[in-house]
Amino acid sequence: MHKRQSPNHSEYDELSTQNNRPVQKSIIDSLYARTSLRSFSDQPVTPEDERIILESACQAPTAGNQQLYSIVVVRDQSKKEALAESCDHQPFIAQAPLVLVFCADVRRWYRAFCLQEGCHPRKPGVGDALLACVDAVAAAQNAVVATEALGLGSCYIGDILENCETQRDILDIPEYVMPCCMLVIGHPRQLQPRKAKPPRFNLESIVFEDSYRDAADTELMEAIAFKLHGRTETLSAFCERKWNSDFSREMTRSVAQWLKGFPYSEQS
Ligand SMILES: Cc1cc2nc3c(=O)[nH]c(=O)nc-3n(C[C@H](O)[C@H](O)[C@H](O)COP(=O)(O)O)c2cc1C
Repeated sequence: MHKRQSPNHSEYDELSTQNNRPVQKSIIDSLYARTSLRSFSDQPVTPEDERIILESACQAPTAGNQQLYSIVVVRDQSKKEALAESCDHQPFIAQAPLVLVFCADVRRWYRAFCLQEGCHPRKPGVGDALLACVDAVAAAQNAVVATEALGLGSCYIGDILENCETQRDILDIPEYVMPCCMLVIGHPRQLQPRKAKPPRFNLESIVFEDSYRDAADTELMEAIAFKLHGRTETLSAFCERKWNSDFSREMTRSVAQWLKGFPYSEQS
């Protein structure tokens, strides 16, 4: 029942166009083939590749075409090392040739509104921050896809959401800007085998029609067992490591802190 589905080539192999648009089979294949890369060769990312990755990020859909994000390219080795520490002590961050921090950024537009005579913007609020996070992550995911297309690899670092005070200092983050995800990018080591893709939930577990559907308890636990299949770790141990852990509690504290910087509410 929980057999993983691979792309059904027969369904799209005969398609070369759909409504006069080319069907990009290679993109779909690449989405299935991608796995996170956490160990990099010494080969630098060329300026040309870096530019393509950044330009591709900016091709992502964006709310109201506002591009509510900024991307910090971290070049300074001491900053990479500081981020490796502040992002839950993950040394491979400092070894990545290219480190990109995607920041939700409502500052650019808010400043412009404030500078414009006759324009009276309300202060940025939590809704603006979350919309900007969606924008920033859409751009980051485009960067991931472009990275893969160039034969490089990447890994998201969610821990950039932790330790807001430290991250703010390292990256000089001003008001109304908040880092929301980080990507480390580089070339795989030669002959490095691609890691097996960790299993995904079956679509039935996560895709619903017309309204949300809570799975029955047994169905839920079956889906979770499928996800943990092949691991020695129990669900309780997983909960301790991922949910109750210090890093996870710190992330929750830190994000609440970031969001305090977006003070507008109905009452204000
Ligand atoms: C929001 C987000 C945060 C992540 N943070 C980390 C991280 O801090 N460290 C890490 O090694 N991998 C991180 N990852 C990568 C996931 O562990 C990885 O995507 C997941 O295990 C699935 O594996 P795959 O990417 O190889 O398919 C993160 C991924 C996402 C989307």
